[in-house]
Amino acid sequence: MLADIMSDEVQVAVWDRPDPLSPQLVAQACDERIAIKSWLPVADLDAALNRSLPGDHYQPLRDDLFLLADMTACLFGVEEVGLRVMALTKPMCPRFHVDRIPVRLLCTYGGPGSEWLPGNVVPAGLLTPGEDQYGRVAAEQVAQLATGQVALFKGDTWRDNPGSGVVHRSPSLSPGQQRLLVTLDI
Ligand SMILES: [Fe+2]
Repeated sequence: MLADIMSDEVQVAVWDRPDPLSPQLVAQACDERIAIKSWLPVADLDAALNRSLPGDHYQPLRDDLFLLADMTACLFGVEEVGLRVMALTKPMCPRFHVDRIPVRLLCTYGGPGSEWLPGNVVPAGLLTPGEDQYGRVAAEQVAQLATGQVALFKGDTWRDNPGSGVVHRSPSLSPGQQRLLVTLDI
């Protein structure tokens, strides 16, 4: 449950749900190389989404973005949310890292979801710049979000959270594989 993120001991909260978008719409968004980056005023979400993402065919995507943005704003009591929507054909951040933000909502449509490490399996020194991460973490210790699932990942600047943000990375993609990634920042 996403609201669990408010607990100090919780670093990852997941809402398990099926992918709300059809494979056809995801493929179309990827073919059109959809790339959105904008701060949306929550009071005027509908109009802002229509401006950022025009086109009748994107209505199901706008509906889901509305839901996620509205939920995020309610949960954290903010009046603006930072939306990014990206069609990806290769990993954006293939190295394990922690985000220097308070918290981020993530959802992948139509492709493999983000990978993360439970706090107790992060090997010492893994995040040291220049460190060769290859082979440092066993594949079975890497948790992965499923397509459509919504997650909140705490970062390094969440309240009194320094040093304990979620260690995560982009999933690798096989040739021809695509994913449509949405993130929301506060
Ligand atoms: Fe990240």
